[in-house]
Amino acid sequence: MNNETAIADGFGRTFPYLRLSVTDVCNFSCSYCLPDGYKKTGCAPFMTQAEIVRLVKAFAALGTWKIRLTGGEPTVRKDFVEIAAAVNDVPGVRRLAFTSNGYKLPERAQEYYDAGLRAINISVDSLRPDQFKHITGHDRLHEVLDGVQASFEAGFKSVKLNTVLLKGLNDAELDQFIDFVEDKPVSLRFIELMRTHDNQKYFEAHHLPGTAVTEKLLERGWRVRPRAEGAGPAQEFEHPDSAGTIGLIAPYSKDFCKSCNRLRVSAKGALHLCLFGEGGYSLRDYLQSDDQIEELQEKIMSLMNFKRSAHFLHEGNSGVRDHLASIGG
Ligand code: 5AD
Ligand code: SF4
Repeated sequence: MNNETAIADGFGRTFPYLRLSVTDVCNFSCSYCLPDGYKKTGCAPFMTQAEIVRLVKAFAALGTWKIRLTGGEPTVRKDFVEIAAAVNDVPGVRRLAFTSNGYKLPERAQEYYDAGLRAINISVDSLRPDQFKHITGHDRLHEVLDGVQASFEAGFKSVKLNTVLLKGLNDAELDQFIDFVEDKPVSLRFIELMRTHDNQKYFEAHHLPGTAVTEKLLERGWRVRPRAEGAGPAQEFEHPDSAGTIGLIAPYSKDFCKSCNRLRVSAKGALHLCLFGEGGYSLRDYLQSDDQIEELQEKIMSLMNFKRSAHFLHEGNSGVRDHLASIGG
């Protein structure tokens, strides 16, 4: 990934990548995220399509070239496809990605591709139907896996699967996950469970360090892939006999933040400099008309001074965010 952009912090990092949430709403109730399902908070509406486009124009003018649409579940927004197409048309946007729980993919993958989306991250926390249901609250593993297939057929070349590592819930499936990617050109990423305000007890019961994955991969003859320039924080593994690769995202590891190349904006228009911890800086007042773009750019640049070097989770900063549905993980 080319990291050239005007958006930089005081620690030598640049931010060509924006993760943009378009809604907090999610139709799943993953046990680590929204165990009781989505509940509305606050009365501010989510950004309109016009606000989203203004925001993306300002970022793109500063050099942001990769945008990921996230949620909640971004595809629950009725105008999701329109938003994607509009964002894709913004000059400077070269790579449009999205994250989804995959629930509508079998029917909609083609529509998404045609809107200009080119990379997709699909959450698959278990390959066992009963366990998938237990974790997500929905008996939809088959649809999601059909969605993976549908994504290839629609033309997506970059298909990533996100699997949150959960002790006692999916750690018995490591071999199955590894076998699963053998004949598919996907990149499966194990993500260490992150602690949020809402999941403290759950975290204690189910957090599993990523070393469990690393050990399993090495034992099965997988090798660490050399880090590509500008790559994000995932450590990638490969195997000569596997079409797919496996990554590990370990947010609590020492150097996780050194390769940070992303900023986040919530569905209500707040800039979050880090996934953890801070409350976000509202950009909403700068999104109300097309002639505010310069003001908005200045605001974004000035906020970069507040980006800290790391999340300090290991120093007991709980990094508490209620849950990650509001910021798209
Ligand atoms: N820990 C780790 N990942 C999380 N996600 C949501 N909540 C958490 C958490 N507490 C990520 C998952 C999911 C994506 C939408 O957000 O990867 O696939
Ligand atoms: Fe929804 Fe993603 Fe949270 Fe699961 S992890 S409840 S799919 S936002």
